[in-house]
Amino acid sequence: MNIQELAAELEQVSIHDAQTLEQFRIRFLGSKNVLKDLYAAIKDIPNEEKRVYGQQVNGLKERAEQIYLEAKTDLGQTQKSVNQDDWSKPSEDPKVGAHHPLSLIRKEIISTFKRIGFEVSEGPEIEDDWHNFSALNFPPEHPARDMQDTFFIEKGAQEFALRTHTSSVQVRVMEQQQPPIRTISPGRVYRNEAISARAHCFFHQVEGLYIDRGVSFADLKQTLLYFAQELFGSQTQIRLRPSYFPFTEPSAEVDISCTLCASKGCNVCKYTGWLEIMGCGMVDPNVLEACGIDANQFTGFAFGMGLERIAQLKYRVTDLRLYSENDVRFLKQFKPGMA
Ligand code: DAH
Repeated sequence: MNIQELAAELEQVSIHDAQTLEQFRIRFLGSKNVLKDLYAAIKDIPNEEKRVYGQQVNGLKERAEQIYLEAKTDLGQTQKSVNQDDWSKPSEDPKVGAHHPLSLIRKEIISTFKRIGFEVSEGPEIEDDWHNFSALNFPPEHPARDMQDTFFIEKGAQEFALRTHTSSVQVRVMEQQQPPIRTISPGRVYRNEAISARAHCFFHQVEGLYIDRGVSFADLKQTLLYFAQELFGSQTQIRLRPSYFPFTEPSAEVDISCTLCASKGCNVCKYTGWLEIMGCGMVDPNVLEACGIDANQFTGFAFGMGLERIAQLKYRVTDLRLYSENDVRFLKQFKPGMA
């Protein structure tokens, strides 16, 4: 084929798929391409025509390369748009959010207590003195009422506080309901503290309350053992240490055996083998009476724990600030069911 015929062929070529593209490449650019004969014929061309001839053959080669590259790019693009329209293609993984670690813990605690007949109750975060302090047997001069611990809010002549604990909800429940009462109250609480790794001005608690005829300290102990073993594993032990809260008598702090070192002693349990997780006690008769429940007929127990503390032990997160900073690198590590 001569130069004119090949030039005409190049202008009419139609490349519409990978196969015709490859055929074109082999014919014009492959190792045995049609231009090779033209190059080989240079030696027979009269000297004065060699330059023009050479330019024409080079021109054909460049044109072939151009057509090839253009066709290749076009095909690549159509291929892509075909795939985008292909509705039978498996979809890309959807980006799902994570659950906040405190939500995971709250859900787990709620379901653990629901299994033994507890209901969930909630109360307001802005509370009056009666529900946060007075009904709970806090004497008027009690240090917890101090400005340093409590955020006070003035509304007209009346003073309110951001609740300092979810114990306020037990007052609300007892005021509205006669025993038997079995309830847990999850919620956010506030304290006037400087923010650091170990303290925050808000955190989360779950309060528990059980009031009926003949409820004893043994019932409290067994309920807490059940809870600790459900949450931290069946090997978990509890121990109660005498303590003081105005709203319970007797009162105790609850420790669980250290889940990190199996009570052998580590820096988390400070080599004691025990971790403090909550406060508890028998509801003080004064509290029952303040809430309209006959303390001669009914007894009950109460307990209160911090969610951040439980999450800290389950997920080994030691800096409290991480729970409220909304850093996605922290948050996306938590999946439902991992608690
Ligand atoms: N309200 C207590 C606190 O915020 C926790 C607590 C202790 C709740 C003992 C209770 C209880 O119901 O019996 O530290």
